[in-house]
Amino acid sequence: MNRETVSAPSNIALIKYMGKADAVSNLPTNPSLSYSLKHLRSFVSIEKTKQDIDTVNSFTGEIQVELSEKAVKRYLKAFAKLKSVFALEDNYVIRTGNNFPSDSGLASSASSFAALCLASFKLACEEKSKKEALSALALSEDSNEAGLMEALSELSRKFSGSSCRSFFKDWSVWQNTGAKAIDISFKDLKYIAVVVSQRQKKVSSSVAHLEVLTSDLFTGRPERAKARCDKLLQAFEARDWQQAFEIVWAEFWDMHALFETSKVTFGYMEPGSLKVLRYIKQYWDENKDGPICTMDAGPNVHLLFRADQDKVFTEIKDKLSQSFLLLGD
Ligand code: DP6
Repeated sequence: MNRETVSAPSNIALIKYMGKADAVSNLPTNPSLSYSLKHLRSFVSIEKTKQDIDTVNSFTGEIQVELSEKAVKRYLKAFAKLKSVFALEDNYVIRTGNNFPSDSGLASSASSFAALCLASFKLACEEKSKKEALSALALSEDSNEAGLMEALSELSRKFSGSSCRSFFKDWSVWQNTGAKAIDISFKDLKYIAVVVSQRQKKVSSSVAHLEVLTSDLFTGRPERAKARCDKLLQAFEARDWQQAFEIVWAEFWDMHALFETSKVTFGYMEPGSLKVLRYIKQYWDENKDGPICTMDAGPNVHLLFRADQDKVFTEIKDKLSQSFLLLGD
């Protein structure tokens, strides 16, 4: 990895972005709230080339990523847009990779598009000037870091919705068009991804966003998600971790119920997912404590622990590592 490489973290949503009000610019039907996974990152470097086209390669070495033809096309389309925003006229080689296994079934589009936007901004600063790069984002030279991240986040959202939450340290909230950092007193959480299956998912999240609109249960979904987002913020404010667990638990089941009740039914839940979920629920019932638990559009289970939950973390990690591949802390 050369020193020109930039990186962005993945993020896990506790209130989900599921269902688009506008599929062209990825406007969500409801607010979402996520935690940035600082250890799970995508890396991007961009270098000028004499070739007459832009290309995407994966890094050689430890951070590799399997790039499907479709993924490469999507990435190059995003880069073409970024080049036009920053008025970059040359051709470039993009190198990209993740520090988590690309076949682990964990979403990497959020971190990879966020890293591409950050790397393109950096490139524009070098090739043009910082002033010009900022002005392309309608920002002035004295704009602060938060303003810059919000502008890049808005750009990235159009490439992949969830990537707009990957520009902020710790917590981020995305409402309507804009994502921004939000201060929540639970910090330095520990994270475990329980990898139930490494198979490529049959229905991508982009397709899931369209399909869920056909479910009868989608009626009231934007309102339910918004109400949960408000309640979750209140629970965090009150430092009520158990209440937060319950809200997040209901939220991912709500999303999975939408999948299972779409007109063309699909789903991601596997026997292993249920096994992990039952274990976590039982742990909470027995200990009146445990991790926040969620699932994305996939079979893997995501767990977040408070920084002071050392015993809970060790017990759950020891138990789950007997049957599953675990990633994260
Ligand atoms: C289930 O951001 O992958 O992970 O905007 O079409 O790229 P596109 O979809 P994407 O959707 C992510 C959906 C989710 C929930 C979430 O991260 O909020």
